Amino acid sequence: MEPQSSPTPHVLIFPLPVQGHVTPMLNLAELLCLSNLKVTFINSTHNHQRLTRYTNIESRFSGYPGFGFKTVPDGLPDDHPRAGDKSWLSELIQGLASSAKPVLSEIVVGAEAEAEAEAEKVTCLITDGWLSFANDVANEAEVPVIAVRCFSACCLWAFLCMPNLIHLGEIPFKDNEEMDELVKNVPGMDSFLRYRDLPSYCRTKDIPTCRQLQHLFTGEMQQIQKAHSFILNTFDDLEGPILSHIRQHCSSSRVYSIGPLHAHLKYRLGPNEITISKPNNSSSNLWEVDRSCISWLDQKPDKSVVYVSFGSITILTKEQLMEFWAGLVHSKKYFLWVIRPDLIIGSTSSESLKLLEGTKERGCMVGWAPQEEVLAHRAVGGFLTHSGWNSTLESIVAGVPMLCWPYFADQQVNSRYVSEVWRIGLDMKDTCDRTIVMNMINDLMDKKKDELERSMRKISDLANKSVSQGGSSYSNLDHLIEEIKAMSN
Ligand code: UDX
Repeated sequence: MEPQSSPTPHVLIFPLPVQGHVTPMLNLAELLCLSNLKVTFINSTHNHQRLTRYTNIESRFSGYPGFGFKTVPDGLPDDHPRAGDKSWLSELIQGLASSAKPVLSEIVVGAEAEAEAEAEKVTCLITDGWLSFANDVANEAEVPVIAVRCFSACCLWAFLCMPNLIHLGEIPFKDNEEMDELVKNVPGMDSFLRYRDLPSYCRTKDIPTCRQLQHLFTGEMQQIQKAHSFILNTFDDLEGPILSHIRQHCSSSRVYSIGPLHAHLKYRLGPNEITISKPNNSSSNLWEVDRSCISWLDQKPDKSVVYVSFGSITILTKEQLMEFWAGLVHSKKYFLWVIRPDLIIGSTSSESLKLLEGTKERGCMVGWAPQEEVLAHRAVGGFLTHSGWNSTLESIVAGVPMLCWPYFADQQVNSRYVSEVWRIGLDMKDTCDRTIVMNMINDLMDKKKDELERSMRKISDLANKSVSQGGSSYSNLDHLIEEIKAMSN
């Protein structure tokens, strides 16, 4: 008798449809495809249109016959800006819960029904924390969930401790003076985490908000504990102690630290395979990339340019824009600044660019940059960032010290770690003043440059080792893939 071949695992991947979540999940999708898993990636219809307009995404995945996209509506009207004050994110999550849920059910159940052979059944759903309805859909269809969080372990740990902080009366705060005091009940962080460093929506004085938070984070914990296993885009040498706390807390599901996800590919494909089969091809941009900044960088001396980008969600008032602009100009450094079309409140990008006219001599402004390539450019010496987790990891892999201006969510915890624990950057938290910007840029690029670069080199080496053969993230990814294969048997 012929030996039966093992069924091919079929993984559904469904991220929150925003850039900072789509990017790492597409990277994960590619890594799973590379191990011959069948992957269906679920995009919002709106993002899928942007992705196909601004990237060669089809060709990125053309070598993987098991890969496919499905789309779901995000529940927002077509003309919704999907930008602005961060309350649109709650609208997005609600819109998805009502509009995407039935379509997702069809995909999960349909993919099973369509399956001609047992081999093509859905093995598992890999999904994001904010999409609790996706967990419900999978549970109803008895499809195992692998949970992912696209932010740091340190921020997740602060989230998970939040119900206890509220229970013990550490939150809500009584008055603003407490902001610089240390938080006592986040184990592993009690010597450096201040109230000011807590995730932005947890820095509250309001009791009803606290109740909502308690509910939210208790649910978050339960979701992770119920999941079959749990993925974090980080590496053991960076966040080992905090990962131990999380592993103890989530003992019912296996925790895989497999980051930095964007850095695996070059170690899994040979360098020739990357350049031959994937020229400029690994992007997942939802905005049109302006590559003119690379030739601008080519003209500049080594490590002379500050790269400025606040990710895909942050917005600035015109006043904040002017403070950053004045600080950058007065620092007398070259700067490359990403001014997203929707970055400035109440102003179009061409208006914002006009505001900045006269900066041409030292500055280059683009609507969206090829960020990984920019950070790897020899001319870039520092990164003024909002401390989004992808940007933080990309900066670490490229070895570029950071000046942090955290905006919301995980970014406040991340920037504290960058400055106080890893010592690979400076933290400008809660201030936006031209003199401070100027002084801190000069610290980043001159005064504190050597010490920051020294620590950054060590951490950057560890990041690259973790994803190369024998490294912790490399092995953890292999174990995750083995586990998914075992689930499909
Ligand atoms: C969101 C959250 O805001 C963030 O806090 C969380 O950690 C992840 O999800 P976002 O704010 O967009 O992400 O920031 P970040 O995580 O840094 O992701 C931005 C991505 O866009 C990065 O991968 C970066 O390389 C890319 N980018 C940004 C570009 O490719 N070009 C640009 O010009 C700007």
